[in-house]
Amino acid sequence: MSDADAARWAERRAQTPVTRDYAYLNAGWIGAMSLPVADAMRAQIDLELTFGATSRHAMDERMAMNTRLRASAARMLGAEVEEIAITGNTTEGVNIAVNGLALEPGDGVVTSSVEHPGGLIPAYYTRSRRGAELRVVQVAAADGPGAMLEAFDRAIDDRTKLVLFSEISYSTGQLMPLGAIVELAHARGASVVVDGAQTAGHVPVDVHALGVDAYAVPSHKWLCGPSGLGLLYVRRDRIADFDPIKVGGRAAASFDYDGNAFEPQRDAITKFEVSTMSSPSLAGLAVAIDQYNEAGHQAVWDRMRALNRYAEQCFDRIEGVTVTSPTRDDTRTGLFLFRTEGVDAQALAAWLQAEGRIICRSVKQFESVRLSFHVYNIEEEIDRTAALVARAASAGLPADFLASFQAATEA
Ligand SMILES: Cc1ncc(COP(=O)(O)O)c(C=O)c1O
Repeated sequence: MSDADAARWAERRAQTPVTRDYAYLNAGWIGAMSLPVADAMRAQIDLELTFGATSRHAMDERMAMNTRLRASAARMLGAEVEEIAITGNTTEGVNIAVNGLALEPGDGVVTSSVEHPGGLIPAYYTRSRRGAELRVVQVAAADGPGAMLEAFDRAIDDRTKLVLFSEISYSTGQLMPLGAIVELAHARGASVVVDGAQTAGHVPVDVHALGVDAYAVPSHKWLCGPSGLGLLYVRRDRIADFDPIKVGGRAAASFDYDGNAFEPQRDAITKFEVSTMSSPSLAGLAVAIDQYNEAGHQAVWDRMRALNRYAEQCFDRIEGVTVTSPTRDDTRTGLFLFRTEGVDAQALAAWLQAEGRIICRSVKQFESVRLSFHVYNIEEEIDRTAALVARAASAGLPADFLASFQAATEA
């Protein structure tokens, strides 16, 4: 790591209050908010308290902030401003895209076996609501890009109308070969909708280079923005093909009040934005995205994966522990997962917090504990986590802890 990068990550850590008392390893769920983001949210509240939310001054400020947010978001994703809608979260963005497509009975929908319910359940609903034929591509954490591409190649055929999957899996932590899958899908006439819950603020994303049709991301994970917001990219020439599922004034090109004249909005991305949004949250997200853009997308990605490599070295040495996220560099990300023989993953994650002030989560599908490494994390936190996991692997979790954990989970 260069001195300049080390200084930048140290500054970010200093600006992230939770790191003073905790090893916060959970950006894959909700990232640690920094002071500049919180300050921007407070300033927006103060502005509205002082001037009134609909005063000229507050409205002008809000408009300027909105314009800045959209420009920063477009820059982050490699898109045009006219291709970005502001949503409530990733799942909402995925729903807008999946349910907006005109799917018919018998149309094929392809997804993968390592999806979060936020992507998987909308895929199931295409089957129950539209009569789509759902195919689930089996993916394993050890698969390289070639094996994943081959698996998608076997599943996508000329009847496939939609391919829906995450660029980074929440359950294996692996990076999928998105660009190659998009090429394959498009060659067979299918649209590609991406669940980017684990990507924005983590892996560099360039939606135009990838060629995707729609790509949904959240504010609150790796971007460390406030919760309750997300972004949906839809490629400009495809916007008209997605019918908005929830509609308000922005989904009308023109209308009268008598039920006679109504023209739906077709080409404006804002047709997907239903109505009023939380302005303090928008202000926070604008700063979070600016922070990420200024940090440098590649530098962030490099640092997160360096921490993952470091963790692999530490956890590999622990008897009874198996790393369940990728151990190959071409699919490695900032998500690190491991299984501990004889120790329940959910209980272990809870014990790490109770015993070591280490905040992380478990993933039931693979009986694993998941650590998310962000630029505000340091190697010493990984050492500390590995030491506690080694203790749990050799001696098990303390009986009194297990009793209280079981009582709490049963309650
Ligand atoms: C891959 C994936 N998709 C969707 C979600 C849900 O995200 P959101 O809360 O932004 O809807 C998550 C959350 O962990 C996720 O990891």
